[in-house]
Amino acid sequence: MNAIGQGGRSVAILALMALGACALTLLGGMAASIVYTSWEPSLRSSGLTLQHLRPIHESFAFAWVFLGGVTVVHAWLISLGGPFCGAERMRFRAMIALWLTAGAGIIVSLLAGRFTGREYAGYHPAFGAMILTGWALFAWNFFARAGFSLRGKPVYVWMWTAAIPLFAITFLEANAYTLEWISRRPLRDIAIQWKANGVMVGSFNLLAYGSMMWIAGKMRGNDSYAHSTTGFLLFAVGIINTFTNYGHHTFHLPQTAWVHWVSFLVSMIEVILLAKVTIDLWNLRRKAPPAPDLAVPARFASSVTLWTCLMLASAIAMSVPPVNSLIHGTHIVTAHAMGTMIGIDSMILWCAMSWAARQLAGPAHAAVRDPWMRRAVTALDHLLIVFLTLFAIRGASAGLARQLGPSAPDLSRFVAAFPALMVAVGFTFASVALWMVARWMGAFVRALRTADAEAPPTASEGTPVPDSDRVAV
Ligand code: HEM
Repeated sequence: MNAIGQGGRSVAILALMALGACALTLLGGMAASIVYTSWEPSLRSSGLTLQHLRPIHESFAFAWVFLGGVTVVHAWLISLGGPFCGAERMRFRAMIALWLTAGAGIIVSLLAGRFTGREYAGYHPAFGAMILTGWALFAWNFFARAGFSLRGKPVYVWMWTAAIPLFAITFLEANAYTLEWISRRPLRDIAIQWKANGVMVGSFNLLAYGSMMWIAGKMRGNDSYAHSTTGFLLFAVGIINTFTNYGHHTFHLPQTAWVHWVSFLVSMIEVILLAKVTIDLWNLRRKAPPAPDLAVPARFASSVTLWTCLMLASAIAMSVPPVNSLIHGTHIVTAHAMGTMIGIDSMILWCAMSWAARQLAGPAHAAVRDPWMRRAVTALDHLLIVFLTLFAIRGASAGLARQLGPSAPDLSRFVAAFPALMVAVGFTFASVALWMVARWMGAFVRALRTADAEAPPTASEGTPVPDSDRVAV
């Protein structure tokens, strides 16, 4: 097996795990949405309730975003120093084994009803320990190659260098409730839990933003934007936001108002900067249109721009005090949480997956060239807009009824139709996404087979991939 094949192998394995987590998120979301409908009793009779399905959906959504980011970081590490060997390879294998065991354990235990009831940490802490040990091995390999000095390094290396310890610290905090002196003090417990969850989202955002910066440079063949002032400003504000954004979740705790104001202002600056970065990258791409084999990742990159701007607009609207009290605890918040995680993080990582599939399986592979893959991105954008709008109207109807009482507009016909509409649109969205995920998984499996067999691709699946094309990973 040649050096590139070996390196590509590690990336393909991680990509398959990330896409597996993405598929489980989508399937979990489909099952969770049935809970809203009249089919709920049938689901319940098979032993599944929202208590089972929500933590499965959320845990794998987090796993998807983290694993997607880790896949891109590994692609970069391998482009830096070639394939893993010796101790690095041992650590890599142990990391994969730990994460696969944790993933399998989480799904089996949650389905068996062993949940903790904690938001984003609904599984048994023993699996958390496995995830953290695997993360320590990842950190070891990362710092062994990348080093600790950041002088002159592009912004994505700064982002990843910060995200790795941040995740470890915050993951420990999220599991601090296992200590009695925290779980017995509810106020402290809730404050720590939400502070931890805020930083965790911040750390995966840094992984995803770094991935976007690196891949955008790779696609353009020019890394200069990763050294730009705007890129570094986004990094700085992103770091501050990891520590302040928990303020959004603790409005119900007796805290001073300035905690909420700081959290609000920093989050807004971060989204504004992110919108600027994506628009800048979009403009740079427009100057040099992508080659046909990069059309799918380029299309996803445009979606990231669109969704960042939409999420910015909705975040600003949601923060206006009367609107904020109206939406609190309604499906508008679900739409916002899901919208950001799909519209920004998932779009970035789907862009990354389509790019990595092209690097590993070759520019002629069907998953790379098929025009339906490009059309599917457009379909995902449209379906997502409808899907989130349905949640938003359902949330607004609940908020208005709560605030205005009998004088609220009568949306009862929409409320009655909501479950069926949401399931129909959600299932269509999930089916399109699952189809794309399956195509990329096929490309990565093929890349693994090719690496194992040390053989060039067969004529039916495309021309052999020159090393210069694959060397990026
Ligand atoms: C990659 C795709 C997806 C991601 C990353 C994702 C992420 C999330 C997150 C983070 C939440 C929690 C929101 C909150 O804090 O309230 C959530 C909730 C939910 N998601 Fe998704 N989601 C995805 C796809 C889907 C799909 C395709 C469906 C439906 C077919 C779906 C159905 C739901 C439902 C019904 C809830 C609310 C559950 C409840 O009532 O507690 N999701 N999703």
